[in-house]
Amino acid sequence: MSDVVTFSWGADEASWSIVIHGGAGAVPMEARARHVEGCKLAAIAGAAILRGGGSALDAAQRAVELLEDDPVFNAGTGAALNTSGEIELDAALMDGSLRAGAVCALPPFVSPIKIARAVLDEGVHVLYAAAGAEAFAKEHGFVRTTTEAMTSAAARAQFVTMKQSGKGSEGWAGGTVGAVARDSSGHVAAATSTGGTFMKQPGRVGDAPLLGAGTYADDEAGACSNTGHGESVMKLCMSKTAIEWLRQDMHPEDAARAAVAVLARRANGSGGIILVDRRGRLGLARTTDTMSFAAMSNQHAEPICGS
Ligand code: GLY
Repeated sequence: MSDVVTFSWGADEASWSIVIHGGAGAVPMEARARHVEGCKLAAIAGAAILRGGGSALDAAQRAVELLEDDPVFNAGTGAALNTSGEIELDAALMDGSLRAGAVCALPPFVSPIKIARAVLDEGVHVLYAAAGAEAFAKEHGFVRTTTEAMTSAAARAQFVTMKQSGKGSEGWAGGTVGAVARDSSGHVAAATSTGGTFMKQPGRVGDAPLLGAGTYADDEAGACSNTGHGESVMKLCMSKTAIEWLRQDMHPEDAARAAVAVLARRANGSGGIILVDRRGRLGLARTTDTMSFAAMSNQHAEPICGS
């Protein structure tokens, strides 16, 4: 695990802003540019929605859709396999008016964040799990696919390596993906999607779909998406903790740094976090070797990217 690493954006309050992460981990040097490129394309897509006056919710969702469709990330296509060699997906979407939708332990569907959006739009329940999530998805027109169709060569190779050796690299796909945004109407939103941890037990659910753990948004404070060791993140309610610091007017850069420091100190966990506050200010920090990211705002002509 690295020391806490943060980034400075060189931009402060913004009428609209968005930051994307491609997962905390230890992506090999030769793969980092590809991960950053995926985040950059997602940020550009989200920014186009915000620039046109669209909502933070639509922007965060669109960015995560692209990351889910990109097989280099551990979300949607390219997701990690569990010990049975199957894909089980977690995703959540929340906006600052406290509308939320999430799915967990979802069998293979191409875009879990779209299903989370359908849950949010329906507005009856917040979180559907496993067979219930599958039934909800089918009732709303989504088509189940297969683990084979959604498994990248890298994910399959990782599974084989881990089966044979009991060990594998944490960093092959980075990790969970996420996006947080603030729109020009002053609303915020957060979206997170993941295949979960490598070789998780069937039925294991991580932090991503749990409001306040991996994902949270509140127009009176800001929005947050986490990545990293889900069991540690959920024990600390890390998203809600960071959001409460934003509510007290802590700068998102300071809140991000403090959140991952607490993750390491109290839960011995590793991971990363992205934040936007109600004024459009951004924050990002990680304890891991890498976390690919991209950010844009009305003050940036080009995305700011890195890992
Ligand atoms: N942070 C993703 C997971 O632990 O599932």
